[in-house]
Amino acid sequence: MIILSVESSCDETAVALVEDGRKVLTDQIFSQVDLHAVYGGVVPEIASRSHTEVISILAQRAIAEAGITRDQIDAVAVTYAPGLIGALLVGVNFAKAAAMSLGVPLIPVHHIRGHIAANYLAFPDLEPPFLALAVSGGNSMIVDVRDYTDMKIIGATRDDAAGECFDKTARVLGLGYPGGRPIDELSKTGDDSKYKLPLAHVEDNPYDMSFSGLKTAVINLAHQAQQKGDALDAPSLAASFCKAVSDSLVPRTIAAAKALGKEKVVVAGGVAANSRIRRDFIAACEKEGLRLYFPPLKLCGDNGAMIGAQGYYEYMAGTRGTMDLNAYANMMI
Ligand code: KG4
Repeated sequence: MIILSVESSCDETAVALVEDGRKVLTDQIFSQVDLHAVYGGVVPEIASRSHTEVISILAQRAIAEAGITRDQIDAVAVTYAPGLIGALLVGVNFAKAAAMSLGVPLIPVHHIRGHIAANYLAFPDLEPPFLALAVSGGNSMIVDVRDYTDMKIIGATRDDAAGECFDKTARVLGLGYPGGRPIDELSKTGDDSKYKLPLAHVEDNPYDMSFSGLKTAVINLAHQAQQKGDALDAPSLAASFCKAVSDSLVPRTIAAAKALGKEKVVVAGGVAANSRIRRDFIAACEKEGLRLYFPPLKLCGDNGAMIGAQGYYEYMAGTRGTMDLNAYANMMI
């Protein structure tokens, strides 16, 4: 079964063709990063306009590069939540028009379910149940994945997402937008014990997280150094910051996996590309005897293939969208 899949929830426009939820025939991505970098973050109106400009071109290119004909497309899957509402609507309306004109089913897909499903593309043998940590620019959550379409959030950030915290910290360090990758690079030459940064504990749910205190601590450190005229050791601050985020994410995820009796841990989303977090997860899972899955770097960030992977399992479970399908800025998984 070949699914044409569409992703436009934030600042990447992506159209992919995926076979049986596991094989990527093509994954066309247009990143808007350069359009937003000058503003230091995503400007929603610019994002929507750019999606509109490139989405049909990407779809045409996907079909040409996969070497298929339109009548071989069996369904159209699309991210319909969560994300920037105007950006999501571009993808949803494009997908509706494509499904109608091709005469095939429309499949709405939750963006975070898609991030988790990126792992199905990389690991053909991976099947639920497992515990997933989804960490991206807009979300940070620990998810009990009981089956392909049966999931429950067991912990989430109470305030900022981990990726948002990376981006704000990078801005303070003058590293540009998006900041996750430059901080990751800079941290490699730093001393992670140089700066003591706060770790938040959420009282009533041990699996919930909080990153706003960490963000404020980094901003205060940078401003105080500036006011006193002290030199900031940027690589060590980056390394201490990566350690603090990893210390928030890794032990919580491992504890949740053990509490729920899971044998597999799956990490997903843009922040899953972080080398410190990857290293700490490898060590922790080895110690606890858990099997660990990370998507390759190119499948960590937003892409269309992950929506095609989850779309296949949604289709199998009977999920269908109608022509009045709407987009939603927020939605539980
Ligand atoms: O999954 P994604 O592409 O978009 C959303 O769905 O939000 O994630 C983007 C986020 C950004 O905040 C970016 O700074 C972060 O992922 N990111 C990283 C790394 N690469 C990207 N964060 C930490 N380390 C990285 N290597």
